[in-house]
Amino acid sequence: MTHVLHRQIHHSLPVAVGARGITITDAAGREYIDASGGAAVSCLGHGHPDVVAAMHAQIDRLAYAHTSFFTTEVAEQLADQLVRSAPPGISHAYFVSGGSEAVEAALKMARQYFVEIGQPQRRHFIARRQSYHGNTLGALAVGGNEWRRKQFAPLLIPMTHVSACYEYRGRAEGETAEAYGARLVAELGDAIDTLGGQNVIAFVAETIGGATSGAITPVPGYLRGVRELCTRHGILLILDEVMCGMGRTGTLHACEQEGVVPDLLTIAKGLGGGYQPIGAVLAQASIVQAFAAGSGLFQHGHTYIGHPVACAAALAVQRVIERDGLLAQVQRLGRGLRERLDARFGEHPQVGDIRGRGLFQAIELVRERATKAPFDPARRLHARIKSEAMARGLMVYPMGGTVDGVQGDHVLLAPPFVATDTDLDRIVERLAAAVTAAL
Ligand SMILES: Cc1ncc(COP(=O)(O)O)c(C=O)c1O
Repeated sequence: MTHVLHRQIHHSLPVAVGARGITITDAAGREYIDASGGAAVSCLGHGHPDVVAAMHAQIDRLAYAHTSFFTTEVAEQLADQLVRSAPPGISHAYFVSGGSEAVEAALKMARQYFVEIGQPQRRHFIARRQSYHGNTLGALAVGGNEWRRKQFAPLLIPMTHVSACYEYRGRAEGETAEAYGARLVAELGDAIDTLGGQNVIAFVAETIGGATSGAITPVPGYLRGVRELCTRHGILLILDEVMCGMGRTGTLHACEQEGVVPDLLTIAKGLGGGYQPIGAVLAQASIVQAFAAGSGLFQHGHTYIGHPVACAAALAVQRVIERDGLLAQVQRLGRGLRERLDARFGEHPQVGDIRGRGLFQAIELVRERATKAPFDPARRLHARIKSEAMARGLMVYPMGGTVDGVQGDHVLLAPPFVATDTDLDRIVERLAAAVTAAL
């Protein structure tokens, strides 16, 4: 009997014993192609020699030094690297141990910023339905997935949620993508007016929706409209790129492709590629300067922030991405993945939408294409696809509740940047077989 409280108490999981490249091996000797990088984490695959060597070297030199006593060379170097490659105006990185912690830190940074500059009346956040920002209480509160929020709702800070940018279901018949985006910006404007623009701290959004929505991409102009609206009201824009960032969509930050610069940018997953738990908030100079001119501190902190081994792993991952030109490779492989998905599922009667960018793509399953009607949630189609895929040696990241937190199923693919064309062939082939078996 296990003494680990696993995610699902009644499921028994295979025991992972080894991993190399894009393959994980279990104790029974079965191999699984990691076509989702776990949860869009393992951007360099597994056992990358440069990352492993950098971690070994750091452990031998210095495994831990508390950040209230010391800084470390490796944390300084990682911050330099991240600021050098960040959107304009970003001047500092605040290191944490994962995505939820990054979101929590960003929320508190945003609130403290307004206290520091003499606008303490600002107390509201606005976020989007269908979003996922993490499972800690602050991050869960901004998240818009009803199923995840429901039983914890009495514990969550009050939140205003507006529509997600979900073109497949949200754009009206005959409406252009641009008009749809403008309609969403107007909806956000109404929400701001209801709360009073002077009372809102920030708008929080995933640049490309991930875990709970399945790679929903912003329509042209939408995020630029959001940015303008926030700026007009002095509201901060927090973009959460914990899942879609760090190269996954073909540029280091997904917001680069939107021509939008956030005030705070959260990153994690692909930052350390799964070699160590690490996340970060990248902050605009104006925010850090407000702290410097005011209290002189960010009132936050955890025991493991800036952990040297985590920083060493992340620095090595980011250097490999740069050295090996992996962003261009993500763009090329992303096009190849889309071609294969289109070829396999483009005419599939139960695949309503194929979407995403770079190596961050998803299919959404529907009972009927014409009406976009989802499957009965009781069928748990997403879970069936996951187990059929695992039975075929394939890891994908399916989720239910795509449409409204309860209905809808999608399958997210996020293969490592080091995958080959042959890997993509095998991934899409096995996924097609798993979908057929699950339906
Ligand atoms: C956009 C986004 N934000 C935050 C999180 C939470 O990250 P973590 O699971 O590392 O706490 C996730 C995780 O999937 C995510 O996709």
